[in-house]
Amino acid sequence: MIVVFGSINIDLIMQVKHFPTPGETVMTPSYEWLSGGKGMNQAIAAARAGVKVAMVGRVGDDGFGTRALNAMRRESILTSGVIQSESLPTGCATILIDETGENEIVVSLGANAEVDATQVPDEILGPSNLLLLQMELPAEANWDVLKRAAARGATTILNLAPANELPREALSHLDYLIVNRIEAEQIATKLGLKIETDALKLAYALSKNCDLTCIITLSGRGAVAVSGSTGWVVPALKVDTVVDTTGAGDTFCGVFAAAIHQKLSLPDALRRASVAGSLSIKGKGAQTAMPYIDDIVTYLPQLPEPEMVKL
Ligand code: RIB
Repeated sequence: MIVVFGSINIDLIMQVKHFPTPGETVMTPSYEWLSGGKGMNQAIAAARAGVKVAMVGRVGDDGFGTRALNAMRRESILTSGVIQSESLPTGCATILIDETGENEIVVSLGANAEVDATQVPDEILGPSNLLLLQMELPAEANWDVLKRAAARGATTILNLAPANELPREALSHLDYLIVNRIEAEQIATKLGLKIETDALKLAYALSKNCDLTCIITLSGRGAVAVSGSTGWVVPALKVDTVVDTTGAGDTFCGVFAAAIHQKLSLPDALRRASVAGSLSIKGKGAQTAMPYIDDIVTYLPQLPEPEMVKL
């Protein structure tokens, strides 16, 4: 089983012709409310990729929280670890999407700020499970659960998004670190590493320094990964019309985690994750266009095998 310890949000989505500059008001005719949050997005991506998922988090005692819980239950995700806050509303992300499909996001934590490490019992952090974390929960809670998971033998994956402080000790408990290019540079800077312009070299530096498998996602250019002295370059699938890139990184992470949990090799897991991330940008919202395993398998032959690079 995959345990996702993460955020649950309602996403307020507005389509704009261009992003407002400071002091500017941009008008748009309509908006939508859709479920989101990096934790819930990744849980749904993993569940659709065919693995059992348990979500641990917190929502408000409000309609948005109920809606998110129902959406997860419809995907057969276990939600007994999701608590309703007595005082805070469900987390909310305001998302602007421009005409190219790019986004700008402001996240208000709401009930996610109350998530507590004690919500994750030791019993679900054993060697047969995988823990998947992001950075939209209180950091201390994340590090507590990560430390216990490493001690009890669970496979551990952290998507360092949005980029935030990552203590050295936390890194030592990680098996996989997934970051985008900006997040990779931020963590490399904090660790005092040279900022390589080549993504593969940057992944190598992080992997070597932190003794983990490092994956750097590169949006429309796919991803690179380094494990030990072996690097992998995986392209992205060509997509005719980009509707909304929100949640593409989450789709990548959830599907990658599912593939690793299913014991696929690193290149095979990267290939599946890249196909899924590419498919997810064909529809509006983080979760609407997230593919199911059958879609991923159908499109897999269109993506070349990841290229291996000896480092
Ligand atoms: O990664 C996309 C997610 O980030 C959105 O669903 C939004 O809720 C924010 O958390």
